[in-house]
Amino acid sequence: MSTSNKITIAIDGYSSCGKSTMAKALAKKMGYVFIDSGAMYRGVTLYCMRHKLFDQEENPLIAEIIAALPEIAIDFKFNVETGTSDLHLNGENVEQAIRMPDVAARVSAVASIKEVRSKLVEEQRKMGLSGGIVMDGRDIGSVVFPHAELKLFVTAKPEIRAERRLKELELKGVDTNFDEVLKNLQERDYLDSTRSESPLIKTSDAIEIDTSDLTPVSQLALAYELAQKCLKC
Ligand code: DC
Repeated sequence: MSTSNKITIAIDGYSSCGKSTMAKALAKKMGYVFIDSGAMYRGVTLYCMRHKLFDQEENPLIAEIIAALPEIAIDFKFNVETGTSDLHLNGENVEQAIRMPDVAARVSAVASIKEVRSKLVEEQRKMGLSGGIVMDGRDIGSVVFPHAELKLFVTAKPEIRAERRLKELELKGVDTNFDEVLKNLQERDYLDSTRSESPLIKTSDAIEIDTSDLTPVSQLALAYELAQKCLKC
């Protein structure tokens, strides 16, 4: 239990199943800090792309990436215009760039590098030192905060996730299609859940929420109710 009366909430699950939207809204409603840990892996990936740390087959150059880690500073800064925290890479706001399909296509491979994970997990733990945090990702309940008071594991049907992701990308003016988005999601699901380093797993103490038939409003209501119950125990 944290030293304050604020709890730690770990939200894990596959990409595009609504976990970030739910985590962000839950943090706002509870007055907690929200951290999108996937954004941090995307930031490191963007750095690697800009510094050409991939081979011709687009595999990450692991030794070079490990050597570059001390040069990579990742942090979040509050954006007053949008009311959310944006990811900054070495002082530059890269919130838009990290959401692009070229980053999505490479991020799972970069996130499977042990040293990348150690660096980011250490930073994530520092962010959660005093509780009052909602963090979403793949290994939050299993590795980052194994003692989190509330752990949620979010799922949704792959086709529904692809539909949602496609809409988001279309709104950003990205030229893509349903099949391409679904293929990327399935490839990332496979890599994220089969890698040797901190694979995505549902821990035995996590509560599963299937968002396939839930609106964002009902997802939030459910998560908030669970958090309130947790605060009382
Ligand atoms: O949640 P997202 O789609 O933005 O995550 C991007 C990638 O980062 C995803 O393919 C898996 C990886 N990731 C991870 O390995 N561990 C986390 N805690 C968060 C994300």
